[in-house]
Amino acid sequence: MTATDVVATPATGAPLLQLKNVEVAFNGVIQVLHSVNMEVPRGKIVVFLGGNGAGKTTTLKAISSLLAIDDGAVTGGGILFDGQEIANRDPAQTVRAGIVQVLEGRKVFGHLTVEQNLRLGLHLCSDRAIAERERERCLELFPALRGLLERQAGYLSGGEMQMLLVSRALLLQPRLLLLDEPSMGLAPLLVRQIFGALARINRERGLAMLLVEQNARAALEIADHAYIIENGRIVMHGAAADMRNNEDIREFYLGLSVGREKKSFRDVKHYKRRKRWLG
Ligand SMILES: Nc1ncnc2c1ncn2[C@@H]1O[C@H](COP(=O)(O)OP(=O)(O)OP(=O)(O)O)[C@@H](O)[C@H]1O
Ligand SMILES: [Mg+2]
Repeated sequence: MTATDVVATPATGAPLLQLKNVEVAFNGVIQVLHSVNMEVPRGKIVVFLGGNGAGKTTTLKAISSLLAIDDGAVTGGGILFDGQEIANRDPAQTVRAGIVQVLEGRKVFGHLTVEQNLRLGLHLCSDRAIAERERERCLELFPALRGLLERQAGYLSGGEMQMLLVSRALLLQPRLLLLDEPSMGLAPLLVRQIFGALARINRERGLAMLLVEQNARAALEIADHAYIIENGRIVMHGAAADMRNNEDIREFYLGLSVGREKKSFRDVKHYKRRKRWLG
């Protein structure tokens, strides 16, 4: 049995991940997150929406302990993973605890082959039989990678690279997968493929995910819950199904205008006020 098999059976009723009044600052002065509260329940997909610069990547890095690289730190509140405080820990320790982040902007090892990149994901796995089984599971999930194993990863298309990154992350056998805009720059068919694979992983392995997306429509389709962040503050959260039907969300994040007239700035301000009340 592997860690990925185990997560389907919850150990306790508490959420897998809890952010409590999290504050983040860079260089000790630039505060970017303000009292962020968020939960990822076991076995669920949570989508995290918001405009450019809202604080999505910063939140993910706070969870995966990657802030220190950018001279940032959690300066207030707490981050609990399985009940354990994990804020400002050593990133390697966080990966070993089961939190794996697929970074924004497709960071593969370009000079290595696809196979070698996959093997990097297996470095925590000491059992060869399990490693082979997990590798095979990934190739089944993303069959397109099978024919590319000897290819230099730097020359993959955007979609292929994203599949490789998700595979490499899965091979680390996470208990919580953090994904930063996996659909960025991909054609609609590929977005469907990637999101379909994520939904399947979640269904089959009970793997919890926190998914940052600009592609709100596709993300809300596979998510259970959604949070919206603006200027470093959570302004709204709720069930993904409710968000899909929420008029404001439909207009501002899904681009589906309900009225004929384009809304004015005053309406936008009104929308912001409403969001504060709802949040
Ligand atoms: N290392 C840093 N030093 C100072 N400010 C930073 C640093 N990294 C990010 N920020 C600031 O923090 C804010 C949030 O950035 P973040 O990258 O979290 O946004 P985001 O929601 O992921 O945006 P995007 O959708 O563009 O990726 C921005 O105002 C950004 O300029
Ligand atoms: Mg970002």
